[in-house]
Parts: sequence; structure tokens; C-alpha cells
Amino acid sequence: MRAAITSLALLAAVLPQALAEASSGGSEAYTPSAADLENIRICKYTAWTWAAIVAALLVYRWTLHLLRHVRQLANLNHGTSSDGRQRYFSLPDENFAMVKRSLINAPLINKRHNREFKLSAAMNVGTLPGRLQTLFLLGYLAMQVAFCVITINWNDTKSFYDDGRNRTGVLAVLNMIPLFLLAGRNNPLIWLLGISFDTYNLVHRWIGRIVVIEAVAHTAFWMSGKIALMGGKGWLMIEVAMAGSQLILTGTIGVCAFIGILLQSPSVVRHAFYETFLHVHIALVIVATGAVWVHLKSLPQQAFVLAAIICWAIERLLRLWRLVRNNTGNGVTKAEIEALPGDAVRVTLRVAKPWKFQPGQHVYLYMPSVGLLQSHPFSVAWSDEQTDFSTEKSLPMARQDIFAARKTTMSLIIRRRTGFTDKMFTKAESSPGGKFSTTAFVEGPYGNQSFQSYGTVMLFAAGVGITHQVPHVRDLVAAYSNGMCATRKVVLVWIIQSPEHLEWIRPWMTQILGMDKRRDILKILLFITRPRSTKEVHSPSASVQMFPGKPDVGALIEKEQATQVGAMAVSVCGTGGLADDVRKATRDRCQRTEMDFFEEAFSW
Ligand SMILES: Cc1cc2nc3c(=O)[nH]c(=O)nc-3n(C[C@H](O)[C@H](O)[C@H](O)COP(=O)(O)OP(=O)(O)OC[C@H]3O[C@@H](n4cnc5c(N)ncnc54)[C@H](O)[C@@H]3O)c2cc1C
Ligand SMILES: *[C@@H]1O[C@H](CO)[C@@H](O)[C@H](O)[C@H]1NC(C)=O
Repeated sequence: MRAAITSLALLAAVLPQALAEASSGGSEAYTPSAADLENIRICKYTAWTWAAIVAALLVYRWTLHLLRHVRQLANLNHGTSSDGRQRYFSLPDENFAMVKRSLINAPLINKRHNREFKLSAAMNVGTLPGRLQTLFLLGYLAMQVAFCVITINWNDTKSFYDDGRNRTGVLAVLNMIPLFLLAGRNNPLIWLLGISFDTYNLVHRWIGRIVVIEAVAHTAFWMSGKIALMGGKGWLMIEVAMAGSQLILTGTIGVCAFIGILLQSPSVVRHAFYETFLHVHIALVIVATGAVWVHLKSLPQQAFVLAAIICWAIERLLRLWRLVRNNTGNGVTKAEIEALPGDAVRVTLRVAKPWKFQPGQHVYLYMPSVGLLQSHPFSVAWSDEQTDFSTEKSLPMARQDIFAARKTTMSLIIRRRTGFTDKMFTKAESSPGGKFSTTAFVEGPYGNQSFQSYGTVMLFAAGVGITHQVPHVRDLVAAYSNGMCATRKVVLVWIIQSPEHLEWIRPWMTQILGMDKRRDILKILLFITRPRSTKEVHSPSASVQMFPGKPDVGALIEKEQATQVGAMAVSVCGTGGLADDVRKATRDRCQRTEMDFFEEAFSW
């Protein structure tokens, strides 16, 4: 958090500086033309628009935050459904519920949002942005188009091409600032506005497309300007300029690199060859940025590129700082990787300097012996007090005070895919005892989330998505037994293909089921979609029930809604299909009682 504030402060210092430098023309003796002044004005409009959006979101976010805080305080240590306070918070505000239903939580059109469009099992063509996301992106695009055309002199051929060329060029570099800022996992807006990295990633991709289009338009204006003014000789001029001028040469390299980035970044490529995509992407970005830097030599707009580079540099430094902070000092971080049934591994990390474990955290894992230069995001599923791997016994948890101590081990459950995770699984499986130890580095934690202000919490998970929900279950049961939350009912719905997947979290479930007062609050519903026999599906107790097949998400939510206590949080982490079902089921019912929807996606 401190890091985010620092970087934000730095950014806040850099941006106006960059803008001011751009408008004053740096130190060069330079008198801006009328068209130049117009471009500066448009840069200012753009910057003000960004500031206004951030400010509006900030107010929205912190109002919600405050509301949740009040709701939690009001319901500490009070009774259940007969209590007027919980009842008060279970009633939705009609207008806000409508907005949530038709805008904030809405998919673009009907139902589809995170279920991928697939050409085949391996070819992922992408997902559809949500309705609000789409509106934002269209709005931004419209603004950029408007800024590209207003106050351009359409009557005079020469000034039309000159104005158009300069305008598109200026806007392209200006947009590089948010483009670079939003690409980072340490982007302070994530924490400040409570918007997830995958949303910023979406915006990053679209601003990137806008930058490429503007850069291409910039080139096109230049070329067609030459041809329009000089006819056949224009082509000759272009050739001469390409060969002789550094300005034109670097511009050409830059625009080619931009086009290269556009061509190598569609969803299909990204998802199929993520590591290759990432490395080529970074290499092309370096080429493009370097070329644009030289291209803008002695022009005030170079300050924009500088601001973008500074955003990038701060983000990289923060990553490095997190890596050093977590993994050094007290030895280095060690990982034990254990193969589990059902194509998964459990990674137990003895982190050199552990942090305060909270639900909703994820880390980036580096494991040089498995994949050099790779880092992959994983949710932290569990944390324990342990001094060494050899001392398996867990310390008695007195008041189940999971809040107090810093944890020394952090555990992940990782499902085998085809790259890094596959290597990890194969290596563990072929090691003696099905496990191996190695040096690892963790970068994080990123994100956190609390449902403690909700009276009723429904957690949906499919497969390995359970890693996101287990910490919530532990957090809520512990907070309940300590009288520290508004939560009175927790329902965990976990959909798995076969009962062997239960192994993934068995030791943790045993601990949770042994927690104080858990029977009063927790219900677990397991759905086995491909049981080998009906004998496999049996319900051990009233609070843990097993069913064959897939759940009817709507019916499950409806059932809890009928006896809802306080406000309800519905969270989902799993396949895009499940997430879309839960989203729809929540939207269909959120006008009857207070209900919020939360989605955690494991991809972008
Ligand atoms: C916030 C978050 C939390 C996650 N938590 C878990 C978890 O607890 N358990 C779990 O099993 N999985 C989790 N994932 C998914 C996990 O990161 C990917 O399955 C893993 O990176 C795949 O690695 P691979 O090389 O085997 O991938 P591949 O088989 O090569 O690709 C599989 C998919 O993973 C995506 N992917 C690959 N590398 C990365 C990367 N570095 N960053 C982002 N996406 C990538 C690709 O786009 C592709 O769609 C999480 C993802 C995110 C974003
Ligand atoms: C376009 O930009 C260049 C470089 O800053 C400048 O020299 C030129 O005067 C500008 N032309 C117009 C029409 O704005």
C-alpha cells in the first residue's frame, strides 16, 4: 500500500511536469504556432478527462467502502435474521440495484462475458468485455476521434495534412502514458480505485490499439500530404526522406514496431503462446519507444514519452523491491512441490519474509529451475505457522486468531496446464515421493478482498478456482467466531470433475471443519460432474453435502435469498461459463434483496 502511494505521488509529480514542459516547449528557443497551441490544448483536455474519470471513480469507490465499513460495524455481535439491522441492510436501493443489474454487472449483450470464444480446445479467440467496460472504451475512442478532427483546417490542403499529421502524432505519444501505466501490476489505480488488473489490462489493450491507429494515421497524413502537394514527385520525396532523414527513419521504425505489436497480440496468439507473446511484446515495445524517443528529439512531446518510460521504470522497480523484500534477509524462499491426484500440485512456500495473509491475495511465482525468466500468477490458498517443512505439526490456534501472526508458509494449488505448470507437475511426479524442493521467488502479495460486511456470503468455485475461496471461508468463520464480522451465513459451492480433486484441499478443509462455531455458519455443497460411480457421491454430514452433476446456480442463490441475512455477496472463481451463469443468476435477483457480484478471473 505504501509502495502504491509512493508511486502515485511520483506519478502525480511527473505528469504535470511533463505537460508543462510540453506546453512551454522545453528549453529550446521555440515559438509554437497556432496549430501547436491547439494541440497543447487538446492534450490538456485529455489529461483533464483522465483526472475527472479517476476522481469520479475514487468518490464511488470510497463511498462504497465507507458504506461497507458502517455495515460491518453495525452488525458486529448482533443476532441473525430477526435483527432489524441485518434486515435493514438486506433491502436494496431500487435505483442502485437497477444500475447494478443493467450496467455495472451487465455483460455486453445477453449473458456472455468471460466464457471464451473458442475455435478449438487450444484456440481461444477471446472474451467479450462487459457493458460498462464497452461503454467506457467506446467513449474513449469517440473522444480520441473527436480530438483528431476538431479544429483541423479542412479548407487548405497543406495545413490539412500538416495539422492532421501533428495532431495524430501528439495524441499517439500522449496516449502512451496511460498505455504504459495501465500495463503494470503495480499500477496504483488498482488499489486506489479497487478495479482489478484484468480490467486495466483490457483498457491497456484498447488504448494500445488506439495508439497504433493514431501512429499509422500520423504516417498516412505525412505520406499523403507529400503526394497531394507534389503529385508524382511526392513518392520520390518519401523515398529520399526515408533514406536521408533521421526523423523519418525513426518514425518508420516506430510505426513498424507498433504495427508488429498489433499483429502479434490478438487473443489467440496471446493465449496459445503466452511466454513468447510476452517476450516479443516487450522487445517490440523497447524498439518502438526508442525509435519514438529519437523521432521526437528536440520536440516538447518527448516529455510524454519520458513520462511513459518513468511509469514503466517505477513499476519494474516496485516489482524488484517486492521480490527482494519477500525473498531475502532470512535465507531465501524455498518451495516444496508435491504432485496431487487430478493433475495438480501443491506448492508450499517457506517465504523468507512473510507478509500478512489476507483473502483474495495472489502472488507471482518465479521458479528458476522450472522456468527461467517466467513468472506466473497464483492465488495464495493457505498460510500456516511453520518453522520448517520437517515440523509438520501445526501450532494450536488459540482463539483462531489468524489475524495476529505473520505466516511463515504460504501454499498454492496449481492446476496443470501446458507450459510452466506442466513442467512443475512432471518434475514433481517423477521425483521420489512425488515431491521436490527448490528455490523460488515470490512477488507479491497483490490484491485483497473482504466479505466481512455481508450477512450472507455465497462462494462459487470450479476446479482450481477453490484457491480463491478457501481463504474467504477461513477468514469468515474465524471472524464469526471472534464476533468481528457481519457475516452469519457462508455457503461454499465447489464444482469438481471427480472426487479425487477433494485431495487438493483436504488438510485445509479438515482444519476449517474443526474451527470453533463453524457449524453455525458454514455450509459446503460439492458437485461432482463426472463421478465414476454413484457410491463416490455421499454426503458426510448435514453441513457438507455432495451431489452428482452440475448445480442449478439460480436455484441455489434463490434458496439462500429466501432466508438471506443482511446484504449478500456472491463470488465466483472458475471457468468463464460458470462465472457467466453466476453473474446472470445474481443480476436476475439483485433487485429483490441487496446483492453484490464479485468475479475473479484466472486469465486475461
Ligand atoms: C490472479 C490470478 C490467480 C491465479 N490463481 C491460480 C491458482 O491459484 N491456481 C492455478 O492453477 N492457476 C491460477 N491462475 C492461472 C495460472 O496463472 C495459469 O494457469 C498459469 O500461468 C499457466 O501457466 P502455463 O505456463 O502452464 O500456461 P500455458 O499452458 O502455457 O497457458 C495456459 C493459460 O494460462 C495463461 N497464462 C500463461 N502464463 C501466464 C502468465 N504468466 N500470466 C497470466 N496468464 C498466463 C495463458 O494465457 C493461457 O491461457 C491464476 C491466474 C491469475 C491471473
Ligand atoms: C507540426 O509540428 C512540427 C514539429 O513540432 C512544427 O515544426 C510544425 O510547425 C507543426 N505544424 C503545424 C501546422 O502545426
